[in-house]
Amino acid sequence: MKLPGRNEPCWCGSGKKYKQCHLDSDARGETAPPALLAEQEEESRRAANRIMPGRISPERPVPPEIVRPPYVGGTRPKGRSCLKRPEEIPAMRAACAAARKVLDAVVLAAKAGVTTDELDRVAHEETIKLGAYPSCLKYCGYPKSICTSLNEVICHGIPDDRPLKDGDILNCDMTVYLNGYHGDCNETIFIGKPDAESLKLVRCAYDCMMAGIEAVRPGRNFNVIGSAIEARAEKDHFSVVRDYTGHGIGADFHMSPAVFHYFDRYSRAIIEEGMTFTVEPMINVGTWRCKIWNDQWTTVTADLKRSAQFEHTILVTKNGAEILTGSDQTPYFKKQLKEWGL
Ligand code: MF3
Ligand code: CO
Ligand code: CO
Repeated sequence: MKLPGRNEPCWCGSGKKYKQCHLDSDARGETAPPALLAEQEEESRRAANRIMPGRISPERPVPPEIVRPPYVGGTRPKGRSCLKRPEEIPAMRAACAAARKVLDAVVLAAKAGVTTDELDRVAHEETIKLGAYPSCLKYCGYPKSICTSLNEVICHGIPDDRPLKDGDILNCDMTVYLNGYHGDCNETIFIGKPDAESLKLVRCAYDCMMAGIEAVRPGRNFNVIGSAIEARAEKDHFSVVRDYTGHGIGADFHMSPAVFHYFDRYSRAIIEEGMTFTVEPMINVGTWRCKIWNDQWTTVTADLKRSAQFEHTILVTKNGAEILTGSDQTPYFKKQLKEWGL
């Protein structure tokens, strides 16, 4: 239920435009059914609390000895396959382990009062300490070393001077380039104690990623991943974002195939042992539709309801998949829930 727009037919069934019928008396709180007014109030509350663009700090320097990926300087990706030769796997493992190490440090630094720019500093410095390059920096013009996506921001949030607030949910997405390979992972964490809906959402997003990963077997079609994710999301009546996918990964940050998080009936790609790709579903409380800010990156839900995401880079094995971006700290939100006794 939702109040009509000014020029839409009035909810009372009179056939008149809303503005010529109950709009004024509803605004005074006199006539509309309470459920409609509550919905309207909730929508205004979301609009008032929405994430706004902040100030972005100057570019952080990368020491000259750090090897840059080819796109820093303008070379286009070569369109290689994500299938790895056995001798490539150790370097792939190392890149993924480094990405996880950085992400672990970032989520530990995320607390109420800390700005997302400060998290970018942590991500940037930890990456360089490991001798790696922060893959996001200058990727298609992206200005920072990590993506920090808050509340209704689905993905690609740019770190800025907004301090984290109690009750926020924050996704940190970290990719590093080490010894010629990229490793990519993200997770959503709570800032302070979560409300019930955010708790359910974050749990669901994590379960969705795991369900997608557990569906992976050599010989299966890639679309089994999306089917498993959709089935888990539907259980909680949440929606799956359709505009972004997981991706093959390796010498290039993003390579084929696109890993859909919903069932894609046209998908012909077959999963093969030795492939490395990401599974990274974005799950929304409300609509799956998104909008992109004028910065051309920050992607928010069209209804400003919350969104959560998890991502691992995986290696396809003989019988399933191995998570390359795991650590004993992940998923961090489960540790947080224990602290709150939830
Ligand atoms: N790490 C993101 C992914 O999972 C991509 C971020 S691209 C950036 O694919 F340019 F926004 F950093
Ligand atoms: Co990522
Ligand atoms: Co990714």
